[in-house]
Amino acid sequence: MTIRAVVKGVGHFLPERVVPNVEFEKSLDTTDEWIKSRSGIERRHFAAPGENTSHLATKAALAALADAGLTGEDIDAIILATSTPDFTFPSAATMVQDAIGNTKGFAFDVQAVCAGFVFAMANADALIMSGQAKRVLVIGAETFSRIMDWSDRSTCVLFGDGAGAIVLEATDGDGTTADRGILSTDLNSDGRYRDLLYVDGGVATQNTGVLRMEGKEVFRHAVEKLAQTAHTALDKVGLGADDVDWVVPHQANIRIIQSTAKKLGIGMDRVVVTVQDHGNTSAASIPLALSVGKARGQIKTGDLVVTEAIGGGLAWGSVVLRW
Ligand code: UT7
Repeated sequence: MTIRAVVKGVGHFLPERVVPNVEFEKSLDTTDEWIKSRSGIERRHFAAPGENTSHLATKAALAALADAGLTGEDIDAIILATSTPDFTFPSAATMVQDAIGNTKGFAFDVQAVCAGFVFAMANADALIMSGQAKRVLVIGAETFSRIMDWSDRSTCVLFGDGAGAIVLEATDGDGTTADRGILSTDLNSDGRYRDLLYVDGGVATQNTGVLRMEGKEVFRHAVEKLAQTAHTALDKVGLGADDVDWVVPHQANIRIIQSTAKKLGIGMDRVVVTVQDHGNTSAASIPLALSVGKARGQIKTGDLVVTEAIGGGLAWGSVVLRW
């Protein structure tokens, strides 16, 4: 018998304000057509003033708990993947812990930028497998609109705000890939590439800073590394592309999503795509896509799902799970 971390609930939250591409035409030398054709993005949500990452995360967490038929007090651990916490400390996860009425568990943030949710899921899996937690709330939440350089057309049109969450619960499995739950994980980072995607502020500068990206270079690494990590995670448990029901990729750019699917030998009819509606929401993009994919009727109980993501660090990875 094996313990598996099984998805018991999923939910998401998007701020009310929707910003279509045309809004950027007013202030920047850009067009709806350029943004759509180069990234696949048509609109994104931006948080209201005073609406912070922990607020979005709390709403997504409550939606996932409701889906699981649980309350905050039923949770042993809360892991929040974010690069845009409300404050330097305490963790945004502890703010969510308080907001959902959890006092008996422990909470912490994971910071692996756009790969954050994959890293958080792998951590949650390890906590469950080691017996340290039975139920883990895993959240991805971001307010990237707070770290944009609004004069840089090559970055500010790409990102959005939002949050998604899942509840993972320890469940007995028989140790085969027919089990529901997380089946394998693959995590990577390479700090030699840290200058390709970073924020130019923080504790060192005593200001928040704004996002800087060498888009073309990140694109090149993404196409190469995403297919590689998904293959590695599938290989670990003897599965292949034909076994996959859904790829749920990080939603940064439709061209990266298409190239990765092609490299994996998986048709776009088996890929959950939300980039057109959310833009790049960094660590929130995979749980948002999981929640939307389930709500659309795409992801069903028993489906084999592969998530993969890459972002600043560079950090990248993949999780294979049976829904
Ligand atoms: O989530 C973390 C991972 N991040 C990513 O995966 C992002 C990876 N990178 C990308 O998605 C793409 O590289 C971008 C969407 C950022 C850019 O697409 P691209 O096809 O690589 O364009 P480019 O950077 O090569 O720029 C092409 C042209 C340039 O003009 P010149 O030098 O050819 O005259 C840019 O200045 O497009 C120009 N450009 C724009 N034009 C209109 C850049 N941004 C814009 C814009 N509107 N918003």
